[in-house]
Amino acid sequence: MKKNILLGICGGIASYKSCELVRLLIKEGFAVKVVMSPAATKFVTPLVFQNLSQNPVYLDMFDLSQADVGHISLTQWAHLCVIAPLTANTLSKIAGGVCDNLLTTVVCALAKNTKVLLAPAMNECMWKNPIIQENVAKLEKLKKYIVLTPPKGELACGIYGEGRMPEPQDIFRHIKSLLKK
Ligand SMILES: Cc1cc2nc3c(=O)[nH]c(=O)nc-3n(C[C@H](O)[C@H](O)[C@H](O)COP(=O)(O)O)c2cc1C
Repeated sequence: MKKNILLGICGGIASYKSCELVRLLIKEGFAVKVVMSPAATKFVTPLVFQNLSQNPVYLDMFDLSQADVGHISLTQWAHLCVIAPLTANTLSKIAGGVCDNLLTTVVCALAKNTKVLLAPAMNECMWKNPIIQENVAKLEKLKKYIVLTPPKGELACGIYGEGRMPEPQDIFRHIKSLLKK
């Protein structure tokens, strides 16, 4: 059976790498639906993800073109939710149960056994901020969330440090192992 991946994209520079992730997933035979935060649309256009995923891109919590309750249908469709890149902002919102856009609402409304693979990507100071680390620990304690540790490397802000998004191939491998494909 075809496995369904709900891919959340947040507003970070690393979102350009998520295009490659979608390509790898589609090539492997997964069905992919992309949900973007409003900030994410400032980085890569929804059109790119729509084209690569071969599905509509979901942006709006209050979409009048949808007769069903869109965020609930998405949660029922997903076998796995992946958020890559995950910003400090959305990470903290998820940890706090905030539901103020389509992406955060979908994550909060996922069924109990639907796992969420998180690929944080941010500046090193943000990543090492004790509040962010506290939120990471909070999510990891709940077995539902798998948080990938951002590897060290060159960051978008020009410095070398922790906070890079793992490479699309690495996220892809994690997805396959979580879905035993
Ligand atoms: C050029 C630029 C790059 C950014 N990169 C990141 C990033 O890599 N990680 C991050 O956590 N925030 C980053 N931000 C800040 C987020 O876009 C901002 O916190 C936003 O509110 C995130 O919204 P979202 O979590 O709903 O996507 C960046 C902002 C700009 C202008």
